[in-house]
Amino acid sequence: MLDTMAKGATSVALDTVRTLRVGRPVEDVDLGIRRGPELSVIVPTFNERENILELVERLRVTLAAYRWELIFVDDDSPDETARHVRQVAQDDDRVRCLHRIGRRGLASACIEGMLASSAPYLAVIDGDLQHDESLLPQMLEELARGQTDIVVGSRYAHGGGLGDWDESRVAISRFASRLSGMVLKAKLSDPMSGFFMLRREAMEQCVHKLSGIGFKILVDLFASSPRPLRFVELPYHFRTRQAGESKLDTQAAWDYAMLLLDKLIGHLVPVRFVAFSLVGSVGVLVHLVMLTALFSHLGLSFVLSQAVATFVAMTSNFALNNVLTYRDSRLRGWRWLRGWMSFTLVCSVGALANVGIASYLFSKETKWLLAAFAGILVGTVWNYAVSKVYTWK
Ligand code: GDD
Ligand code: MN
Repeated sequence: MLDTMAKGATSVALDTVRTLRVGRPVEDVDLGIRRGPELSVIVPTFNERENILELVERLRVTLAAYRWELIFVDDDSPDETARHVRQVAQDDDRVRCLHRIGRRGLASACIEGMLASSAPYLAVIDGDLQHDESLLPQMLEELARGQTDIVVGSRYAHGGGLGDWDESRVAISRFASRLSGMVLKAKLSDPMSGFFMLRREAMEQCVHKLSGIGFKILVDLFASSPRPLRFVELPYHFRTRQAGESKLDTQAAWDYAMLLLDKLIGHLVPVRFVAFSLVGSVGVLVHLVMLTALFSHLGLSFVLSQAVATFVAMTSNFALNNVLTYRDSRLRGWRWLRGWMSFTLVCSVGALANVGIASYLFSKETKWLLAAFAGILVGTVWNYAVSKVYTWK
């Protein structure tokens, strides 16, 4: 059915083996060659152990007519989803596990899963059975016709539905969809969808431009593509989750804002730097509040108040950056403490640079406000650049 490409790939593989095994007739050796899949199904997982086997079983039935593989991309789930996937993979070599450590993120997991595949067609589907896997053959046939780059499962297209979502989540989803209009080059009915299938070429064309931030991989793909993607939407009903729980929390809103910002201004300034600077301005507020409380209200000495305020502001900056700016490589436990120490050290040097540069400029007749701003800018860039390497390596 979709075999022509794979045939070419097999003969290339055979030629390579021939040259490697010089002098040994190919027919005598059991090369055990099996053709690669025509479809890779990528499933991002975090704590989905109870759903794995059911999903594999459903795909075995749904995709029986095709050569497919299933790549789970797990972010070191505490419930040992990865180990469970590896067990299932021992009984079915179409199942694979990409186990990421010290990382988090649905979008980046999908991207890495797609990059770990060689198939001409790539699908992304949630691991919690909320997406309708029975749509996959239809998606594949649609792509194989050659007129479409990507087929999107849509809850808002005619015939689709949202399942048991409460009103507030529906409203948020609709609002987020509307916002995506700023960066999308297509009128999608459900840009927030996490269920779709695309041709490998469409992914490869934009893979270097993908942001890989947060949950919204489909928005990322459409916004990063150098040319408008030819899409088709298929309606489906979003199912109710049976096992496990949703990971979509309030911080996902922040991630989404960062994704949109990255698409809008990322070519000018790294969006992490914007986030880092925003956190820095919150730090200034924290500092001033602490200083006022200790110095004006509690009557401590200025030096002590200033020192404590600096310390508290650095700590709150570290904690905020850890959950927002570096959410995808968030530090926990001992690594949190070590990160905090290195951050404090980095920022102390940054503060010295800040004061040094500002004082120097001021002594050279620069206006005081300008001198201060130059100092702050240099300090912030230093803090950002060095903490990026040493604190959140
Ligand atoms: N690897 C990895 N890393 N996987 C993750 C992470 C992560 O940090 N966070 C979530 N996942 C996996 C979950 O295990 C699940 O398989 C899938 O991504 C979706 O996560 P849910 O937590 O179930 O999200 P949801 O049901 O609230 O929302 C989903 O469906 C919506 C409708 O299509 C997401 O796909 C949304 O992006 C989508 O809008
Ligand atoms: Mn879900």
